[in-house]
Amino acid sequence: MSEDVFTPPIGEWYHPTEDVIEQAHIPDYEEVYREAVADPISFWAKRADTLEWHKLWDKVLDDSNPPFYKWFVGAQTNIVHNALDRHIKTWRKNKLALIWEGENGDKVTMSYWRLWQEVNKFANILRSMGVKKGDRVTIYMGRIPEIVVAMLACAKLGAPHNVVYGGFSEQALADRIEDAKSRVLVTCDGAWLRGKIVPLKDVVDEAVRRSPVVEHIIVVKRTGQPVNMEEGRDYWYHELAALPIAAPRCETEVVDAEHPLFLLYTSGSTGKPKGILHTHGGYQVYVSTTLEWAFDLKDDDRYWCAADPGWITGHSYIVYGPLILGATSILYEGAPNYPYPDRWWRIVENYGVTILYTAPTAIRGLMRFGEAWPQRHDLSSLRLLGSVGEPINPEAWRWFYNNIGSEQCPIIDTWWQTETGGFMICPLPSVSLKPGSATRPFPGIVADVVREDGTSCEPGEDGLLVIKTPWPSMLRTIWGDDKRYVEQYWSKFKEQGWYLTGDTARKDEDGYFWIIGRNDDVIKVSGYRLGTAEVESGLVSHKAVAEAAVIGVPDEVKGSVIYAYCILRNGYSGSAELMQELKNHVRHEVGAIAVPEKIEFVATLPKTRSGKIMRRVLRAQALGQPLGDLSTLEE
Ligand code: WT7
Repeated sequence: MSEDVFTPPIGEWYHPTEDVIEQAHIPDYEEVYREAVADPISFWAKRADTLEWHKLWDKVLDDSNPPFYKWFVGAQTNIVHNALDRHIKTWRKNKLALIWEGENGDKVTMSYWRLWQEVNKFANILRSMGVKKGDRVTIYMGRIPEIVVAMLACAKLGAPHNVVYGGFSEQALADRIEDAKSRVLVTCDGAWLRGKIVPLKDVVDEAVRRSPVVEHIIVVKRTGQPVNMEEGRDYWYHELAALPIAAPRCETEVVDAEHPLFLLYTSGSTGKPKGILHTHGGYQVYVSTTLEWAFDLKDDDRYWCAADPGWITGHSYIVYGPLILGATSILYEGAPNYPYPDRWWRIVENYGVTILYTAPTAIRGLMRFGEAWPQRHDLSSLRLLGSVGEPINPEAWRWFYNNIGSEQCPIIDTWWQTETGGFMICPLPSVSLKPGSATRPFPGIVADVVREDGTSCEPGEDGLLVIKTPWPSMLRTIWGDDKRYVEQYWSKFKEQGWYLTGDTARKDEDGYFWIIGRNDDVIKVSGYRLGTAEVESGLVSHKAVAEAAVIGVPDEVKGSVIYAYCILRNGYSGSAELMQELKNHVRHEVGAIAVPEKIEFVATLPKTRSGKIMRRVLRAQALGQPLGDLSTLEE
């Protein structure tokens, strides 16, 4: 049923030290959890009270039309007011908001004051290009400060941003532009990665050729190689920023709490990627609360979430969460092992990072190079570590705990999704840990593991992970597709009104959750989420391929890698050259992350009588496991 990545050992405990508990925002998880679940409405109202609103809500939760829930109904706000505007009226205006390091050693630091000004300038430029409340702006950039600035500038104008991760290909970008109907796009000439330039503007040119809805492109100069600039369409950011329109003052648009903040496309089990919609009000309450409590964020922290701003982790926990809390964040442009495998540890040491939030695949990748690399650096500033994206296997957990955290730092394993907006199952620092378990639900979250019929599983029994009550940062819909939203997440347990996560999990006797993996056709490669359908349609768009099926198989570093099975059209025969050509083709159609590790040319694919590909049969074959029940197999 699931992509079983590993079997977690149950029963090993790690208890937080007195020190950790003493300084935690929430020293007693049980008490706060009980209080939140007993009266979620007052609980979330109290959390919302920690922020500023232009007008308070009439109602905390409107659940009259499920699953179209509304939070803080009637309230007026803007997340940028809480993330920036309010800070520059306090001592925080002089505090560092952002410390950026380029892969080539370039450095930029921005105080809250400076970031606020940059955002204002950018917003004025967007406005001069006709961007107004409700317009979608696509952002396709590397990890540079301007991506943060551009996102905030959009939000400031009430224009939902649509960030597309810089590793995606021209077709993936074109699809997302098209679906969002985005007239304005922000990009940069290139990004530095492993000492080489990733030519982002070239990808944009091709994507816009395929999706000509884009009228204006703002290009930030980063790498400096010559790029094509089309007159009347493309503008250098630094030239626009020098114009009088780019004034450092710009009113923040006051919007409804339920006004769209962003779309973020993610992969589902079928069809095209889904534009997950999040809104200003509930999202700002949830991401700030979860970050403050789970990572115990304090004013003197130097917090580093090593994800990309282009993923939900970056949206919630690089951009919005930390800024709302007035924190100092680190942003690093490049590869973790460039020029040497100690780049990250060097950054921790240089900037005195206190909290490091990353992914198991990155940990496993760095683990390969051995302990000597972190040992060369003083990592004693660290006090908390975090993990996200997939289950963390005990080996990686222990390596991270022992070699990076010096056996002093709790590992906050956060289970959540693009759809949930923020952490759903994760420990608070005061909670005892078991390596490999994301522990228990965040206060206010009601999670369970259930059988197909909706009854709760026994401890140790695998089942479907569901969320039983609404939460403020839940997705509001799939952009332009309410029907798919209802079907995908709310139809399985319609009667009960539960949210279906798509994950298989189990609970142990202590009520700890163990995430096993996805139970739909979603594959996690290096923590990135890919739909089998996306990769398959990438393959069949090549003229030689008649039919394709892909599966995920376990991999030591990446979690899973992709194996592809292709039936060729008449007149084509399988060769090493064709294999390479198909890999390149997928790189262009979907992105580098989707390139199959292995391609096999086959004459038939295992299918049910109704024509559905039985991927579990392919998987069992690939892994040399028993094929299981074949009664539905056509031949
Ligand atoms: C899927 C969501 C949430 C930000 C990054 C991924 C898996 C995520 C964990 C974790 C086990 C995890 C789940 C989930 N996942 N975090 N701590 N332990 N599995 O967001 O791309 O929307 O993927 O990632 O399978 O459903 P995403």
